[in-house]
Amino acid sequence: MHTFVTYQLEHNLALIGLARPPVNALGQPLRAALLDAVERAAADPAVNAIVLHGSSGLFCAGADISEFGSEASFAAPDLPGLLLRLTQLDKPLVAAIGKLALGGGLELALACGYRIGEPGSRLGLPEINLGLLPGAGGTQRLPRLIGAKPALELMLSGAPIGAADALEQGLLNRCAASAATLLPEACAYARELVACQAPAQPAALYPEPDKGLPEDFLTRFREDHEPRWKSRLAPRLVLSAVEAACLLPLEQGLARELALFKQAEASAQSEALRHVFFAEREAGRVPGIDANTPLRSVRNVAVIGAGTMGGGIAMNFANVGIPVTLLEREGEALDRGLAQIRHNYGISVKRGKLSPAQLEQRMALLQGTLDYADLADADLVIEAVFEKLEIKQAVFRTLDNVCKPGAILATNTSSLDVDQIAAVTSRPQDVIGLHFFSPANVMRLLEVVRGKLTAPDVLATTLKMGRTIGKMPVVSGVCFGFIGNRMLEPYAREAHRLVLEGATPTQVDGVLTGLDLSMGVFSMLDLAGIDVNFLVRDANRAAIAHDPSYCRLGDELYALGRYGQKTSRGFYLYEGRNRQDDYEVVALAERLAGELHIPRRPIGNQEIHDRCLFMLINEGIQLLDEGIALRASDIDLVWLNGYGFPGHLGGPLYYAEQLGLDKVLATLNHYRKALGDYGQTWFTPAPLLERLVAAGKQRIERV
Ligand code: CAA
Repeated sequence: MHTFVTYQLEHNLALIGLARPPVNALGQPLRAALLDAVERAAADPAVNAIVLHGSSGLFCAGADISEFGSEASFAAPDLPGLLLRLTQLDKPLVAAIGKLALGGGLELALACGYRIGEPGSRLGLPEINLGLLPGAGGTQRLPRLIGAKPALELMLSGAPIGAADALEQGLLNRCAASAATLLPEACAYARELVACQAPAQPAALYPEPDKGLPEDFLTRFREDHEPRWKSRLAPRLVLSAVEAACLLPLEQGLARELALFKQAEASAQSEALRHVFFAEREAGRVPGIDANTPLRSVRNVAVIGAGTMGGGIAMNFANVGIPVTLLEREGEALDRGLAQIRHNYGISVKRGKLSPAQLEQRMALLQGTLDYADLADADLVIEAVFEKLEIKQAVFRTLDNVCKPGAILATNTSSLDVDQIAAVTSRPQDVIGLHFFSPANVMRLLEVVRGKLTAPDVLATTLKMGRTIGKMPVVSGVCFGFIGNRMLEPYAREAHRLVLEGATPTQVDGVLTGLDLSMGVFSMLDLAGIDVNFLVRDANRAAIAHDPSYCRLGDELYALGRYGQKTSRGFYLYEGRNRQDDYEVVALAERLAGELHIPRRPIGNQEIHDRCLFMLINEGIQLLDEGIALRASDIDLVWLNGYGFPGHLGGPLYYAEQLGLDKVLATLNHYRKALGDYGQTWFTPAPLLERLVAAGKQRIERV
């Protein structure tokens, strides 16, 4: 039988070790075992103080996320009650924080009177990422420990801080010399506390957490931050809880926090974000590879092409200390590329996110070259040259000649056939697609495109490498545009068509940003480049060209040289980054509609929502049916991390499930009839959607 905690008596100290691998999630069984152990120590007159630690080194990653939304979440002993009990003990309790104290784990440490970390400890309250707020006293105890302002920052960012910062902020009392000495140093600390008769709970450093802040601090804070929160509930609830910490006695503040936490836990937003949390873990499970799949070593990387994309890709590796050889055809382009990278790092230095010394360290990891022979030693080569099959194939022929056996050869194509690229080499098993999203040093999505012959160890290595450089890798099969861009195509097509029928770019974008997408489709096309979009479309036209209205507006803008932000004119007019409507675009749409005999009419926002998003969803379901995506949640991750879909809607397919698959199907069928020939051409429901609805399924899965 599993015991969940270890208990050891050592010279008047009770050592209680959390022992629920892998991360000591505070589910009901661990809570119950912990309470028993604490009561045992409390009742034992031989125990003077208690040291709470993670028995495998890692302290605690918080509440058990899988319990949320079920009765287990507050099953006795509940976490707030358990932590309250810890604060009532009359013996000092020292939390020895190895590796991680996150969420409820940090709240557990806050309920202990004293906290010691080690140099590698990371402490944080990431509940906001799950649409929650700390619900076990964190919102009340943290402001009383470090003050309302830093507490708010920790809770709203969700990002953990390191031991040095935690020590400086007063979150840690001490830091051990190393992870190995953490437990003995925690015991020594506990003995010191006993020797000097320290109170079990020291007095709060900030009994009034907002003391010293301007009187209107919280009101101003809300006004400043609310626009960025859009429709997100959790940040607002965090702020309300901190207000309570500032205004109410602890006991009442804790009650208020509990009520706010339960509101967050029951919200659709939190449910969606919990879906995302588990989706991210699930994405790593890929048929054909497992923990036993060998990995190739990647000690140095080469990137071909020092343009915006190549430079951004190279930065990802330099950021984690991996040397990169950057290859260009001409010295000038290479110099420009390296200068752009330096400029990008310079921005981080200005923002205080990087020190000048770190900038130099990263630049020193980047070696420019004009000679393919310098790639002979690279473990991983990523090609980021112009998006044309023949050009990419020529690069891969050369790579095949110069690269050492076993090197992984990756293409950053956004739409081309990875198998056709692999086929020109003598080692298709070593070829894979690594589709980064622009700006490649910022965007989290990495589509990992598995070719027909890609070897399992190449796939496993690139997935791991993707995580090492901070990306969210999602596996896709080979098809035009892979998961993301293939779904973008019908979504953008519908947006184009709606403008011909009478909507405006602003109206279409407004409906999408109204849902909290970070950008509307037309702003996105203006940013990515109408020329880029045109060239991709043009290369694939033979497969689609049976509709004369198909993205006609984009084609015409391309012909006019209106390429988007870079030419200050696209679907909108730009002054710098400021966007304005352009009546010429509306006039152009009117003219095209006349030529194409498309009746113009006022278009409602609901129609824009349904036509754009249900087309997107329909294509996603089709991709799942074709096996291009492994699971619906992978498709969600692509749109969440590469296309600005809001996390609190869970991704497009999760969103479809919440709306009701039957409703999505009925709406597609409605437009199929209502839009005449156009509807017949494009609004064919994915057969999998029809099968799911016929089978009464509410979740999207392959059936
Ligand atoms: N609850 C349940 N399961 C958890 C968990 C948690 N809090 N944290 C991690 N796990 C599980 C993961 O699902 C995963 O399970 P599988 O192997 O079955 O997929 C396993 O632990 C390992 O996790 P990762 O694959 O993510 O491992 P990692 O080493 O890359 O990352 C981590 C570890 C940093 C702890 C990361 O898992 C993480 O960020 N976890 C979430 C932490 C968090 O959000 N805590 C707050 C919870 S809410 C809360 O505490 C509310 C409150 O106030 C009471």
